[in-house]
Amino acid sequence: MLRKIGILTSGGDSPGMNAAIRAVTRTALANGIEVVGIRDGYKGLVEGLYEPFTRSSVSETIARGGTILGSARLPEFKEEAVLMRGIEKLKENKIDAVVVIGGDGTYRGADSLTRHGVNCVALPGTIDNDIEGTDYTIGFDTALNTVVECVDKLRDTSNSHHRCSVVEVMGNRCGDLAIYSGISCGAEILITPETGYDEEAVLEKLRYLENQGKNHAIVIVSENVCDVKSLADKISKVTGFAGRATILGHIQRGGSPTPSDRVLASRMGAKAVELLVAGIGGHCVAIRNNEIISMPIEECVSMPRSSRKAFYRLFDRLV
Ligand code: F6P
Repeated sequence: MLRKIGILTSGGDSPGMNAAIRAVTRTALANGIEVVGIRDGYKGLVEGLYEPFTRSSVSETIARGGTILGSARLPEFKEEAVLMRGIEKLKENKIDAVVVIGGDGTYRGADSLTRHGVNCVALPGTIDNDIEGTDYTIGFDTALNTVVECVDKLRDTSNSHHRCSVVEVMGNRCGDLAIYSGISCGAEILITPETGYDEEAVLEKLRYLENQGKNHAIVIVSENVCDVKSLADKISKVTGFAGRATILGHIQRGGSPTPSDRVLASRMGAKAVELLVAGIGGHCVAIRNNEIISMPIEECVSMPRSSRKAFYRLFDRLV
């Protein structure tokens, strides 16, 4: 019998997490299930940072970025002793099941808890869109909107000054923010984990574009693939463009969630509670072809990365 569920957010925050917390809370309460907000992710779960949630605990939160529960990364949750301390705390507080919202690491924690008898359901909350099995993660659309707004602004000034803007976006080994923003902003060059980095090829392409009469250029780079500052300096030295580097950084994680993210989070939050009510744990929620589905976490975390080749082909055709 499911009487009380906990909810936590873990890993890097993402816009829409609050909408998901709200949906979980209100769906559970409507089913006569008590809700406990767990602060600061798995750290709070282990330390017992628990707070009873009512309908009004989540009032006025749907439009807010960040997470009202706070978030943290706790790699030690993989250790058996730490996990067991967490399970003890949940038992002491009579929490029967937990909904977790976060990325890959968050999913693994939920799977371990389920294997030790505490049913958990995971929701994909990350701006990176790097979770397999789901078309979109909560927060990706908002982050993409932020990137596009910034790059559009850079394009204005880059155009006025015959410059090449080299823009670094986040993504955690996944090029989705880069490829989606590259197509949206009409960027000239993309450098992502999928494309790899060939400095000479980038410079060559810029020289070619210049010869074609291009007045300015935008290069979008996924974090950790190359050093945007060095690339911008090199561009200034060996092409006719003046290179300028911009690292968008954590601004991509903030802001009010877009309506798309709010709806996605609300649908997924409600589904998480439905699964737990049906006695299903160890699952993660996903959206595929606009349908909310679920699958075992184990299956999701071992899926190979789906191909983005069609996106890259489209990008190339449009330059
Ligand atoms: O996973 C979200 C993310 O913003 C990644 O895009 C980025 O690599 C990482 O988190 C940054 O982590 P931190 O906030 O710890 O600097």
